[in-house]
Amino acid sequence: MKIAVGSDHGGIHLKKEIVAYFESKGIAYEDCGAFIEESVDYPDYASPVGEKVVNKEVDLGILVCGTGIGMSIAANKIRGIRAAVVSDEFSARMSREHNNANILCLGERVVGRDLALSIIDAWLEATFQGNRHERRIEKIAKLEELR
Ligand code: RB5
Repeated sequence: MKIAVGSDHGGIHLKKEIVAYFESKGIAYEDCGAFIEESVDYPDYASPVGEKVVNKEVDLGILVCGTGIGMSIAANKIRGIRAAVVSDEFSARMSREHNNANILCLGERVVGRDLALSIIDAWLEATFQGNRHERRIEKIAKLEELR
């Protein structure tokens, strides 16, 4: 299991906490930036993380900005990405079990460190349930063909 992580300046502190958490747990990750605290544009970081996920260079992605919203909107423009912005463990689990979310988006200004790490645990422990949910994921993929 390898996870790509990315943030803008609004999520850089939480990203650092997530990276430290992965280090402590021996979870493989690739940090796609940002590496500076100056103002940057979140689509520039959603892009490499999303590309790595769809190209199967990593298994999953985690994106952090101030709210998680900008990152989720940007990442969901990439064909094959199902990015979910969540701020509780239940939604995190459901985003994997029902929606097969391949990117988790978090808001540093919304969730604290401990809740964020708990959300990540719930997300990583959950697995896609398939069956009727598979049909719905396929219908989402069909929507991408409209573009
Ligand atoms: C940056 O100020 C902020 O807009 C960004 O981190 C994010 O919250 C956007 O959705």
